[in-house]
Amino acid sequence: MAHHPMHQDLPARLVAAAIAATAAAGCAPQQSALHPAGEEAERVATLFWYMAGAGAVVWLLVMGAAIYAVIGRKRPQSERFADRFIVAGGVIFPTVALAALLVFGLSLLPALSETEPPDLRVHVTARQYFWQVEYERADGTRLTSANEVHVPAGATTEFVLTSPDVIHSFWIPALGGKMDAIPGRTNVLRLSPTKPGTFRGVCAEFCGPSHALMAFGVQVHEPADFARWIAREEQPAALDAAPFERAGCAGCHTVRGVGELASVGPDLTHFAARRTLAAGTLANTRQNLRRWLLDPAGVKPGANMPSYAMLPPDEIEALLDFLEALH
Ligand code: CUA
Repeated sequence: MAHHPMHQDLPARLVAAAIAATAAAGCAPQQSALHPAGEEAERVATLFWYMAGAGAVVWLLVMGAAIYAVIGRKRPQSERFADRFIVAGGVIFPTVALAALLVFGLSLLPALSETEPPDLRVHVTARQYFWQVEYERADGTRLTSANEVHVPAGATTEFVLTSPDVIHSFWIPALGGKMDAIPGRTNVLRLSPTKPGTFRGVCAEFCGPSHALMAFGVQVHEPADFARWIAREEQPAALDAAPFERAGCAGCHTVRGVGELASVGPDLTHFAARRTLAAGTLANTRQNLRRWLLDPAGVKPGANMPSYAMLPPDEIEALLDFLEALH
């Protein structure tokens, strides 16, 4: 018998496609608090599932009672029974249930004061609109990077959050709860990722026109791999920076090994190794980078990056060559 795949298999194909799409979505939960990859996120997910489960049970009980009241067989009840039912169902049950959930929820809170020093300290400075990320060295000095966070798995990293000019809320859903970076304050958030992987962090508080464009990549490495990453990140750039300097980029951006240290814009020393540009706004490709240089306001409203549309095309291409070589 002839086989007609187009006809007969269409529903099966749709089902297979739906399953594949669901599986793919389930396999890449880069920004999901319900796919925890760290101890703190595990607690958040546990709290969510228990609260959702308890809420569902209460909802079913209340709906059951309501449906029974409307369509159930009407039998006369004593006043005594009615009083007891109201006291038990309206006072005692909610009090006990809410108290139990409250105690359970509080038991999952992280300790208010940490006495153990963290394994790694990362200073995150919220800027309008980028994240400055500095890794504290053993001697207390810092290695500066931007818009991407790298941490080792199986270790506790303390994020020290502050800001000179804007309030962002630093949130890596797969690793734990969120914490605000507020001008004039220093907030501390500890995260203990358990699984290596690539995750996505976001800003969780409205901070202006580019609020939705304040994402950042998060890479959780195996410890040895993290050490290698840090060692590479420590290397200065050894490149001919003439196009970068001619365009005046060095007035705002630091490329270690090239010129003065400027911190108006993000550090670009290993820019080409980052997955995204403009803080998670665009994939880090040559075409997107050209678009960013020519029309930053169109890509990211409110960003302080000026347009370089006035540069001759060959200068733009020279600048792109330089930036793409910053591995
Ligand atoms: Cu920063 Cu929203």
